[in-house]
Amino acid sequence: MREVSKSFGTVQALRGFALSVQGGEFVTVVGPSGCGKSTLFNIVAGLDEPDDGGILRFKDRGCHARELLGRVSFMPQRDLLLPWRNVIDNAILANEIEGASRRDARARALAMLPEFGLAGFEKQYPHQLSGGMRQRVALMRTFLFERELMLLDEPFGALDALTRTMMQRWLLDVWQRHRRTILFITHDVDEAIFLGDRVLVMTARPGAVKLARQVDLPRPRTPDLVTAPEFVALKREILDAIEEEAMKSFIASTGA
Ligand SMILES: Nc1ncnc2c1ncn2[C@@H]1O[C@H](COP(=O)(O)OP(=O)(O)OP(=O)(O)O)[C@@H](O)[C@H]1O
Ligand SMILES: [Mg+2]
Repeated sequence: MREVSKSFGTVQALRGFALSVQGGEFVTVVGPSGCGKSTLFNIVAGLDEPDDGGILRFKDRGCHARELLGRVSFMPQRDLLLPWRNVIDNAILANEIEGASRRDARARALAMLPEFGLAGFEKQYPHQLSGGMRQRVALMRTFLFERELMLLDEPFGALDALTRTMMQRWLLDVWQRHRRTILFITHDVDEAIFLGDRVLVMTARPGAVKLARQVDLPRPRTPDLVTAPEFVALKREILDAIEEEAMKSFIASTGA
């Protein structure tokens, strides 16, 4: 994407955003609250068009955002499980909307349950699951909707630190096996570095790319990496960049 801007009335959420992602790459995105991260995802998911002048290309072809609808899989910021559907039927929702046979989709979902730590829970309803399990159902739905590009908007945002660390390792494991291209929004800098091939830091609103850093840490990533000097140095640099932007948006919001 190049020169992508998006305004909502007088609020400019994105301005001149540019990003190019390679197939199979895992890109993490951090930035102050309200800087336009979810807006960016809504555009890439085809739910919203950028303002005039924005250029989108998907697989070497220029396109409108709406042409991307259904071509990428998207896990929005809230898990959006339907309370009246059990685990399996929540997991196959996107496939069903797409017109897949319910029977086939259920069979595939059932086979995937153990990998997502949900074996034996197929008949449970969302209110019977822990927060971590609900997130895994939502992630499973995103994986089942087999698209090369996956957008994950703070998928672990609601989890406690320990569950979150487990989920990060688990996601990397699943990703190694299924190799999708992933764009991943988070507020957690450790998470961004631990997961990503590349970390993007966004500016305060209107959002643009402030900093992009390659993460040259070996894979598979092991938990002890977080204390490695390269990790710590990168974290310092990214935290400084975010803090600078967070201060700007704080000052703008308080009118100070
Ligand atoms: N549909 C909309 N209509 C009007 N304003 C919107 C709409 N969507 C987003 N905005 C505004 O655009 C700005 C960016 O919102 P966005 O949700 O993209 O931020 P974000 O970076 O995802 O924030 P957070 O980290 O809190 O999730 C905000 O000021 C928000 O109020
Ligand atoms: Mg958001």
